Amino acid sequence: MSEKPPHGFARGLTNYGDARFSLYLRRSFASSMGYSREMLDRPIVGVCYAAGGFNNCHRHVPELVEAVKRGVLAAGGLPVEFPTITLGEVFLSPTSLKFRNLMSMDVEEMIRAQPMDSVVLVGGCDKTVPAQLMGAASADLPAIQLVTGPMSTGRYHGERLGACTDCRRFWGRYRAGQVDDAEIQAVEGRLATTSGTCAVMGTASTMAAIAEALGMMPAGAAAVPSVDAERLRIAEESGRVAVELIAHPRRPSEIITAPSVENALRVLLAIGGSTNAILHLTAIAGRLGLKIGLDRLNALSDTTPVLVNLKPTGDLYMEDLAAAGGIPAVMRELRHLLHLDCLTVTGETLAERLDRWDPWVDRAAVRPFADPVDPQGGLVALFGSLAPLGAILKRSAADPALFEREARCVVFDSLEDLADRIDAPELDVTADDALILLNAGPRSASAMPEAGYIPIPRKLAEQGVKDMIRISDARMSGTAFGTVILHVAPDAASGGPISRIRTGDRIALSVAKRRLDLLVSEEELAARTPLADLTMQQVRRGHDWLHARFITQADEGCDFTFLRGEGETAISDVDG
Ligand code: FES
Repeated sequence: MSEKPPHGFARGLTNYGDARFSLYLRRSFASSMGYSREMLDRPIVGVCYAAGGFNNCHRHVPELVEAVKRGVLAAGGLPVEFPTITLGEVFLSPTSLKFRNLMSMDVEEMIRAQPMDSVVLVGGCDKTVPAQLMGAASADLPAIQLVTGPMSTGRYHGERLGACTDCRRFWGRYRAGQVDDAEIQAVEGRLATTSGTCAVMGTASTMAAIAEALGMMPAGAAAVPSVDAERLRIAEESGRVAVELIAHPRRPSEIITAPSVENALRVLLAIGGSTNAILHLTAIAGRLGLKIGLDRLNALSDTTPVLVNLKPTGDLYMEDLAAAGGIPAVMRELRHLLHLDCLTVTGETLAERLDRWDPWVDRAAVRPFADPVDPQGGLVALFGSLAPLGAILKRSAADPALFEREARCVVFDSLEDLADRIDAPELDVTADDALILLNAGPRSASAMPEAGYIPIPRKLAEQGVKDMIRISDARMSGTAFGTVILHVAPDAASGGPISRIRTGDRIALSVAKRRLDLLVSEEELAARTPLADLTMQQVRRGHDWLHARFITQADEGCDFTFLRGEGETAISDVDG
C-alpha cells in the first residue's frame, strides 16, 4: 500500500538533511505558539491575507480572518494565517498595477513554501484579488477566494454617494466651477464612509463578480457589503469549505478552465464591468495556459446584454446588487449562454448553484435578459492602424454620439505634458477633437496608471462639455465614465504606432466596425521619430528591472512573461 502524502505541518519540510529532525524541530517550534498535539496533527488551512495601514479597503480584514479561522476550526482543520504585501489602490505610486505581479509572486511562493493543505485568500481592493488568484492558480493548491465586500454608501445633503463614480462626478463639477472649495471638502469626507471596496461596479466589484463567476468563491459572495454580518458568515463558510477541499481536492486548475473563463467574460460584460478586469482575467487565465483573444471578447460582447444597473453604467450601488439577488441573479438571466457544468469551489456545478438560489430578484438592479439596460455587452475591443494589438472601450459608460467619428488629434506625449497643458487657456482644442495621451502604457515609467480618463480641458468643461474622445495606452478606473479608449497596444514605450502620432493628425473611430485608425500614410509614419519613453529600459536593478524586461502588453494581461502558464488554449476553443 502506498504511503499517504504528508499533510499539515509535515508538508514541505525545511531541509536540514534529515526529514525526521526537520519535523521534530518544526513541531517543537510550532508548540511554542501554544498549539496542543491534537491541533498540530490537524490538516492546515493557510489564511492568506493582505492587510495593512495603507489599505483602507481592507480595514476589517482582521475580523474576516477571525471568522475564517472559526470556520476552519469547526470543520476540524487548523487555520494558520499569513500576510502578504497588500496593494491599497490610492496609496501606491506610480500605480498599483505595477505591483500586482509582484504580489502574485508573494502569494504563489508563500503558498508553496509554507506547510498548508489548502488556502483561503482574503483580499478585495482592485489589484489584490487578481494577484491572489494569479498566485493561487500558479501554485495550484486547493484555494478559495474571500473578498472584503463593497463599502456602503454615504450621504451628502440628502444625496447618496459612493466611491468612486461620485468622486469623479463632483470633481468634474469642481473643475467646471460649479462646486466651491468648501463643498468639495465636505464631499471628500462623505465619499468613502465604511471599510470595504469601492461602492460601485469598479474594478474591485468587477473582480469579485469574476471570482464568483469563475467558481472560486461561494454563491452570492461577491456583492455582500463589507459591514453586513452576512460577510462574516461567508468568511466562516469559506473556512469550512477550505477544510472540505483538503479531503476532496478541487484545484484552481480544475475550476478556472476555458468554459469558466468564458462564463466570467459573460458576467463581466453583463455587469458593465471595469476595463481593468479584462487585463486581470487575461492574466489569471494566462497562468493556466488559457488565452483570451480580444476578438472573442467582441463576439461575446455582441451577444451579452448589460443587465446590471450600477454606476458608472447605471444608477445604483453594489449594496443594491446584493439586495437584488447578487451575481447568481445575473447569471440566472444569462443561464442559456453559460457553461452550466463548470465545477465550483464548493463542489456544486454552476447549474446546481443557480437552481438552489432564491429566485427573487429586484428588477431595478438586475434587468431581465429580454429587457436589458443595454442590448450589447459593456466592453468592446477595437483594432486598426493605431492599435494593431487592440484597444478597449467601455461602451456602456461612453457617449454613443461619439462612436462613429473622425477627429483631429491633440497629443500629450507624457503625463507631465498632460498636467502642464490640459488646462492652459491657450490650448488649441475643441470639443470635436480627440485627446491623445502617450507613454502611459505598461512599459512606460508610469507603468500604466489609471490616467486614461483624461480630464476635459478646463476651458471646455466651463462651456459645459462633458465628454470627448480620449485615447491612450493607459488604463482607467472602473469607476470612471466617458468615451475613453484605453490599453492601446503596443504601447508608446514599446514603439507602437501611437508613439508616432502628432497633434493635427486625424483618427477614425468606428465602434460599429471595431476600428481605430490613424489617418496618416505608412510612409509618413515611418519617417517620424517615435515619442517613446525609454526610461525603464535604462533601469538595472530590483523589481523595476523585472518589470521593464518582462512585462507583457495589455492584450496579454500585463503579466510577466516568465509567470505565464504552459500552453495556449484559446477561450474560443470552448463549445458554445
Ligand atoms: Fe480599494 Fe477602490 S480603492 S477598491
